[in-house]
Amino acid sequence: MIIAIPKESFSNETRVSCPPGSVKELIKNGYEVHFETGCGLASSISDDDYKSVGAKLVKDSSTLYQKSDIILKVTSPSLDEIKLLKTSSTIISFFQTTRNLKEVQALKDKNITGISMHLVPRTTLAQKMDALSSQANIAGYKSVLMAASRLGIYMPLLMTAAGTIRPAKVLIIGAGVAGLQAIATAKRLGAQVEVFDVRPVVKEQVESLGAKFIEVESDSNEGVGDGGYAKETSEDYKKRQEQLIHDHISKSNIVITTALIPGKPAPILIPKTMVESMKPGSIIMDLASENGGNCELTKKDNTVIHNKVMIDGTSNIPGTMPIHASELYGKNITALLLYMSKDGELNLDLDDEITSGSMFTYKGEVTHEQTKIALEAQN
Ligand code: NAI
Repeated sequence: MIIAIPKESFSNETRVSCPPGSVKELIKNGYEVHFETGCGLASSISDDDYKSVGAKLVKDSSTLYQKSDIILKVTSPSLDEIKLLKTSSTIISFFQTTRNLKEVQALKDKNITGISMHLVPRTTLAQKMDALSSQANIAGYKSVLMAASRLGIYMPLLMTAAGTIRPAKVLIIGAGVAGLQAIATAKRLGAQVEVFDVRPVVKEQVESLGAKFIEVESDSNEGVGDGGYAKETSEDYKKRQEQLIHDHISKSNIVITTALIPGKPAPILIPKTMVESMKPGSIIMDLASENGGNCELTKKDNTVIHNKVMIDGTSNIPGTMPIHASELYGKNITALLLYMSKDGELNLDLDDEITSGSMFTYKGEVTHEQTKIALEAQN
């Protein structure tokens, strides 16, 4: 079976789905790997690096797509790319299946098996395939460095001959994978870190990293949904949460927001009025910008300055660290593909939790329930 590694077509994308280290692994397991010329350049990988591990160069994406059985991508395929795919082939990439419905329909119509890295179950067995986590880790780490490098003040406490410098205050909203890595990074730089999340269960993890957990007084686990993920909270909780964030945000120099609710737009936690209460020169890094952002003023892939406060809406922060982002993504996607393979062939076991959980189209059907509902609602 031929696996394709195309050059990512989205202009903002610097990552490549499978670097040479992972290609080696696929070839060892019986696959033939073809790559599009220049696919690794933005991740500092040359065509020769691919050739040296036994991958075959293909000059253009149409030939590559038309001849391959399995396509490995980072971002979801465009409608034009789907047109080039071979009927009944398989594509694996990040894919927001309830949002990119035209693309889902196009894959279904061509009998293509669609597998999304967004849908890989967050179980212990699937940890090595969890690209959401590997990329969120990078986003959490890099967001702190991006903010710190633009801040007009030091991060750590410093005792100098000229006087004492107080440490920067960092407020992190959402202590999932990105938030926890942001805490660790900000602590290493010496900042004072406060954290808020609707899931009280993260308090212990936050405190073990040396940060202070701030919480809304509530007798129920009201922000906790299925599988321990966050869910939408009541209006009363939202009001108390807004007051709490307001009290802390006005004292913060950096605010990193990562609050997401699976399958829903990101909740607005920082309205314009709250930005206006912040100190001049402070920075908001909105890591939820891809899903609309946690700040009312966020503009995806833009930096906005409002009342001397900077709001950064960079959506692809992992893409600013493409070498490690590609390396880790490649390991995740390869682990998933090899899990679903036998003797260099795809061997899809629909009764398997990871295989069926990650899949959204198969043999002309939409197999993912939420996607099916979204598609039917649209038609
Ligand atoms: P995410 O990216 O979906 O959300 C980020 C954070 O935002 C979450 O902690 C969530 O509680 C928080 N949040 C949502 N709404 C909020 C609001 N209104 N205010 C404040 N915070 C809000 O989450 P992520 O990073 O993808 O993972 C969430 C959790 O999933 C992890 O902390 C972990 O417990 C679990 N997980 C388990 C894995 C495994 O067992 N293999 C792997 C990865 C994650």
